[in-house]
Amino acid sequence: MAETIVHSDPDAVAAAMAGIIAGLSQDAGRERIAIALSGGSTPQRLYRLLASDAYRDSVRWQRLHLFWGDERVVPHDHPDSNTRMVSEALLQHVAIPPENVHLVPTQAGDCERVASLYDEEIRRFYGGSGPEPGRPLFDLVLLGLGGDGHTASLFPASPALADRAHWVAPVPEAGMKPFVPRVTLTFGAIASSREIAFLVTGEDKRDRLGDIRAGRDLPAGQVRSDGRITWHIDTAAAGS
Ligand code: 6PG
Repeated sequence: MAETIVHSDPDAVAAAMAGIIAGLSQDAGRERIAIALSGGSTPQRLYRLLASDAYRDSVRWQRLHLFWGDERVVPHDHPDSNTRMVSEALLQHVAIPPENVHLVPTQAGDCERVASLYDEEIRRFYGGSGPEPGRPLFDLVLLGLGGDGHTASLFPASPALADRAHWVAPVPEAGMKPFVPRVTLTFGAIASSREIAFLVTGEDKRDRLGDIRAGRDLPAGQVRSDGRITWHIDTAAAGS
């Protein structure tokens, strides 16, 4: 069962998540913490907060391994690139070892090729060819909610929704702007997680959130985890 936590505003959502990430990095029992980052605009506030004085020196960056939950297949310095967004908001400002930043190799070719290479990268990191019960790939997966109910780049009616064979799937046609090819973690990769956190803020997400709560068949509502799923939303999205 998913839990929902309603925060006062987008800053409070970011602060809650930053606290969770800092706590994970300080957990004495963990040497390697794998986090899948979300793209789009909502998580930028979180990434900037993690790069601020309040967190920069308290997060144990050398333990974190960062992955992208989805990426637009454009050069890393392109304005639509999620890599660029995360770099500018966070990576350029903190002492994370470059080898811990698992970039999507968007320069390698078309989305099929890029998905296949990123799939290999994740398999190498995990040390296995597929998710094994009791050994989650990700400690934390951050996700957003799109206006059409997509999450990561799992758009309604996309063939990627049915991909059970891979960790990463190509998405030749995006269902929403920017209309560039994408790659996305599959439901299987996302489910191999200790914790999933959806970050959803703003009044314009309220109707979709209502659809998910009502059990409408949308990709974001089909997400499962071996661990727990928490929806961190603000009062504007909650409608309260
Ligand atoms: C992306 C995403 C995507 C995003 C949602 C919400 O690269 O576009 O990862 O799934 O999380 O579209 O985006 P906003 O936060 O911009 O509303």
